[in-house]
Amino acid sequence: MSIHISAPIGEIAKTVLLPGDPLRAKYIAETYLQQAKLVSQTRNAFYFTGLYKGKEITIGASGMGCPSIGIYSYELFTEYQVDNIIRIGTCGAYTTDLKLFDLINVDNAASESTFAKYAWGIGGSSIKHQGKAFNVIKRTAKKLNFAIHNCNVHSSDIFYRKDTDIPRVAVKKKCLAVEMEAFSLFANARHLGKTAATLLTVSDIIPTHEKISADEREKALKPMMELALEAALKL
Ligand code: HPA
Repeated sequence: MSIHISAPIGEIAKTVLLPGDPLRAKYIAETYLQQAKLVSQTRNAFYFTGLYKGKEITIGASGMGCPSIGIYSYELFTEYQVDNIIRIGTCGAYTTDLKLFDLINVDNAASESTFAKYAWGIGGSSIKHQGKAFNVIKRTAKKLNFAIHNCNVHSSDIFYRKDTDIPRVAVKKKCLAVEMEAFSLFANARHLGKTAATLLTVSDIIPTHEKISADEREKALKPMMELALEAALKL
């Protein structure tokens, strides 16, 4: 076990899907995995390992924000020898060119976060997805006939702010949407030579304040869950 994950070594699969929310991890595992077994529940961050179409996959919670996913992804990569992590989450669109329920495969994550610099000496304000998962997701989406935007996003440390302008780093790096985790996931994967991708569903359109309702969420996130699982088969 690691500090924040209590699964015995060997009970976490080589490929892990990481939603932010523990109850979403539970829902995906119970809906899509065969023989799903709860392998860790430290801090109620549930991790389940089971089979998807015969392949062993773990689904667990990253928590919210770069510091939290920075901890879980590091322990998964280094203590459990995980090779691939696909974050699955939601994002807010900065532009009305994106619509509610659109899917995003993150190319570069841009951030004001100092995580990459102070953790690993990685400079610059954006980090690319790592390894082949991004391309696998792109190919899998095409095969399944899912429309997907392959673009940059802003990994912000801030959810609530007084300023309504799009933050400078997001403009500079041409980010179409904002979430809060991809940057430190990609930083850890880059430092450790591992594979990491981030797949997002647009849950709100920031300029118009449109939002997916709580009732719509479960159904809305289905295509993303299925795409992530199908892509995981190819990793
Ligand atoms: N900001 C940050 N993260 C998010 C948002 C947002 O507006 N929507 C969904 N995840």
